[in-house]
Amino acid sequence: MTTRRIAELLRSGQPEEVVTVQGWVRTKRELKDFAFAEVNDGSCLANLQVVINPDLQNYAEVARKLNTGASVEVAGVLVPSLGRGQRIELKAQSIIVWGEADPETYPLQKKRHSFEFLRTIGHLRSRTNTLSAVFRVRNACANAIHQFFQQRGFLWIHTPIITTSDCEGAGELFNVTSLDLKQVPFTKEQVDYSKDFFGRPTYLTVSGQMEAEIMAMAFGNVYTFGPTFRAENSNTSRHLAEFWMVEPEMAFCDLEGDMDLAEAFLKHIFQTVLESCPEDMEFFNQRIDQSVLETAHNIIDHQFERLTYTEAVAQLEKANRRFEFPVQWGLDLQSEHERYLAEELFKKPVIVTNYPTEIKAFYMRLSEDGKTVRAMDVLAPKIGEIIGGSQREERLDILEQRIRTAGLDPKDYWWYLDLRRYGTVPHAGFGLGFERLVQFMTGMSNIRDVIPFPRTPLSAEL
Ligand code: 4AD
Ligand code: MG
Repeated sequence: MTTRRIAELLRSGQPEEVVTVQGWVRTKRELKDFAFAEVNDGSCLANLQVVINPDLQNYAEVARKLNTGASVEVAGVLVPSLGRGQRIELKAQSIIVWGEADPETYPLQKKRHSFEFLRTIGHLRSRTNTLSAVFRVRNACANAIHQFFQQRGFLWIHTPIITTSDCEGAGELFNVTSLDLKQVPFTKEQVDYSKDFFGRPTYLTVSGQMEAEIMAMAFGNVYTFGPTFRAENSNTSRHLAEFWMVEPEMAFCDLEGDMDLAEAFLKHIFQTVLESCPEDMEFFNQRIDQSVLETAHNIIDHQFERLTYTEAVAQLEKANRRFEFPVQWGLDLQSEHERYLAEELFKKPVIVTNYPTEIKAFYMRLSEDGKTVRAMDVLAPKIGEIIGGSQREERLDILEQRIRTAGLDPKDYWWYLDLRRYGTVPHAGFGLGFERLVQFMTGMSNIRDVIPFPRTPLSAEL
């Protein structure tokens, strides 16, 4: 039985008396004639205190082997605890020590370790309080996301990880090849991709959006939830080279519908996680960032601010402060600008719409003014951009023109253009950076600590 289940049974007033618990020892204390071990099985933050009496058959062996990090299986009786701080403890009747952990070398001894240090032991760090709370909340976020879309009849679709097109047109692609890099075949100056696995250049996907658009043109409302890859050389606390993205796409939908969905979506996730992980959220509020719970309630209770890019630039120009990067109509907003708007000016999530055409992807719908596109970014306090989305260009002639202006070849996008040729409809969608959401939810300051195995420039451990 998990420690979490035991706690649930206790709350309902019906603890089962004899239980078996399997987990890892966090600490052990040996007194004169008995020993205590704190065991954690990852199911919840709280450890279960195990009381080991000398009448246990293998007492001496157990007392010797039960060091921090050892794996154990304990069968015993749940009894009210005499000690302070916990309501229940497990009086062991039998203990199996499955695997010992040498106290001389086991790196997770009972003290606070820095997150930097924990990143060097990615294979063990999930056994700490903070990282295990992060990964439980990450799971709860994923669950809330599926629940939100499934309740609304969105179809979960699976888009390819290996693609042939650069959706965002930003050129941040990882190449996928099975060519021998020591003997790359060339035709004149060019790599001869006809000899490669797929007979053409292929990449890891930066977004499943275009494939999601295909599926939305058959099912109306769909969403993706999967890994995406960007070879951008950004060594920041908010960028990963491999991250997970959630991308809903809706047919017969405009930018307003898109914003409404994004807002309802974030509210639902926060509400659900507060309900399903109250202890972990309390822990983050106490240990990581004292505004975590306030932020969560703020998201749930208040309407997001909505303003255009042009209005946002005016606000930034008016701001009585110096920014590192210039503020000028036509330039992209930097993270310091995004954070100023969300964190300081409005103190809540902000949706900025209608960005200049030049700084956004070619697929976004051109506005009536001809200078801006129907884009929307959701900016969150502390994080900056957490969601990026848009209404898509559904008009064939304009889209073709935009592809050319972006320096791309319409021939490469024949299927994307076909969607505008056959049964086109207004449609819109967005992408949520899943790790940025988990950061926002937990208050964790570095994105490398909210994904089990982070991939960043010059770093791909395990
Ligand atoms: O704004 P982006 O680039 O939008 C798209 O990819 C669209 N195709 C989405 C769509 O409309 N279907 O990325 C979406 C989100 C960002 O807002 C950010 O939260 C996250 O993905 N993101 C990253 N997260 C971690 N590391 C990175 N390197 C990220 N790049 C983007
Ligand atoms: Mg973006």
